[in-house]
Amino acid sequence: MKKVMLSSFALSLILAGCSDNKNNMHSQDSPMNNGPMGGEEDEVQGMGGMQGMMNHGNVPSLESSEGINELPIPPLMKKQQDLDFDYEVIAQEGTTEFFEGISTDTYGYNGDLLGPTLKLEEGESVDVKITNDLDEPTTFHWHGLEVPGEKDGGPHGEIQPGDSQIITLKADQPAATLWYHPHVHGSTAEQVFKGLSGMLLIDEASGYDSLPNEYGVDDIPLIFQDRLFDEDKQLNYNRLMNPDGTLGDTSIVNGTINPKLTVTKPVMRFRILNGANARNYTFRLSNGASFTQIATDGSLLDEPVETDTLTLAASERAEILIDFSTLTNEESLAIINDGGVELLPFDVALDNSSAGLTEMWTADKPFLTEQEKAMPVTKEIELFGMMKMVTINGKKFDPNRIDLRQEQGVKEVWEVYNKPDMMGGMIHPFHIHGTQFKIISRDGRDPEPNEQGLKDSVLIEPGEKVKLLVTFPEEGVFVYHCHILEHEDNGMMGQVEVY
Ligand code: C2O
Ligand code: CU
Ligand code: CU
Repeated sequence: MKKVMLSSFALSLILAGCSDNKNNMHSQDSPMNNGPMGGEEDEVQGMGGMQGMMNHGNVPSLESSEGINELPIPPLMKKQQDLDFDYEVIAQEGTTEFFEGISTDTYGYNGDLLGPTLKLEEGESVDVKITNDLDEPTTFHWHGLEVPGEKDGGPHGEIQPGDSQIITLKADQPAATLWYHPHVHGSTAEQVFKGLSGMLLIDEASGYDSLPNEYGVDDIPLIFQDRLFDEDKQLNYNRLMNPDGTLGDTSIVNGTINPKLTVTKPVMRFRILNGANARNYTFRLSNGASFTQIATDGSLLDEPVETDTLTLAASERAEILIDFSTLTNEESLAIINDGGVELLPFDVALDNSSAGLTEMWTADKPFLTEQEKAMPVTKEIELFGMMKMVTINGKKFDPNRIDLRQEQGVKEVWEVYNKPDMMGGMIHPFHIHGTQFKIISRDGRDPEPNEQGLKDSVLIEPGEKVKLLVTFPEEGVFVYHCHILEHEDNGMMGQVEVY
């Protein structure tokens, strides 16, 4: 990759020409969850009317953060020195005080809620001990990491209560913001809802030294989720869940309600994860300013993109740089969602470090070769349905059925079609395990500049056909599915065997 040096100010000028992003198409009036579907709530048992109608009525809007709690940063996982493993991850029960004086039952990794961040170097191989201290089976899935099928922690990787395993994970892929979460068929949504999710970062080995990368200082993980609490402020999943994707009215960032973040450096890097069960987020800055997107799910972008809008469906990630150096003291700034809801207000208290040079880069070759673009489609995927009636190619998940086969290391073109229904349909975020793919086209159009990086999840609009260039570097059985976790649990998932 060719590199250029420029300050963060100059960057906006240079990139101004390529800011025509696709993101506006997924605004509030996107078809997701807004279909004209009345009466659905009556079919959902054991719920008040409100939850039942969420997905096909209105998406419940989130409350703005009151900016009361300093944002917690998940700690970095500590490398063990004298044990026969490098890291330990324990799924366990706990309690969390989301609301003052009230204890909410939660799940967490190595703690009460969410999990510590596992940070690996590009190329590093580590042994991780995974332990299930829950009262139910779980799995440990490394979302976005290209590991062999048996280490992937998909539905076949169940660990029974009280059991442990040591697995080797190798970060044999470019630097990226990945994450980990459970994947037990039928209980994924509930376990994630109760708090099981953590960040998994692959650090740049070299060459991008000027990107902010001091974890927790100028390199900040942001896990955005929405939650629904019952009247006792419990995450009562069985009562609150929606089979079309559980949506909440309470925003939590890194597990905290009403967060704010004090920023001290002029240019900050944010690693954003949409960790919600189902909600799409469209992020903007409250003053309308633009920011720089530098990475997609699985890699740095071929070329950074200046934009003022970033849409992420459930499980998608992006890395962005925000320049705080031009703010005046009085100006307030927040990351907002649709409708101006403040998700994360900032307290800007810059230390005296200079804005310095942020090393940016330009693409020195096209994202895809002409030959790759011309490859024929060899796998067709059709996503269809809603609620419990969700299918892929007309079928529900069967752990004993292999749906597709693909040779290890061989590129194939997958065409994924989100088939609309009578109500218009809804967005499905499509995710494939064991691979970082490239988007070849959306309905025949080139992917927007901010999708010209490696991806493992892709937002697909109703009626849209997306072509993906898919390669599996490792062998094994991998699932692919809709990342609305309730759709996944309802069987909107298939299996590909890589041989
Ligand atoms: Cu986030 Cu099947 O995974
Ligand atoms: Cu995954
Ligand atoms: Cu779906």
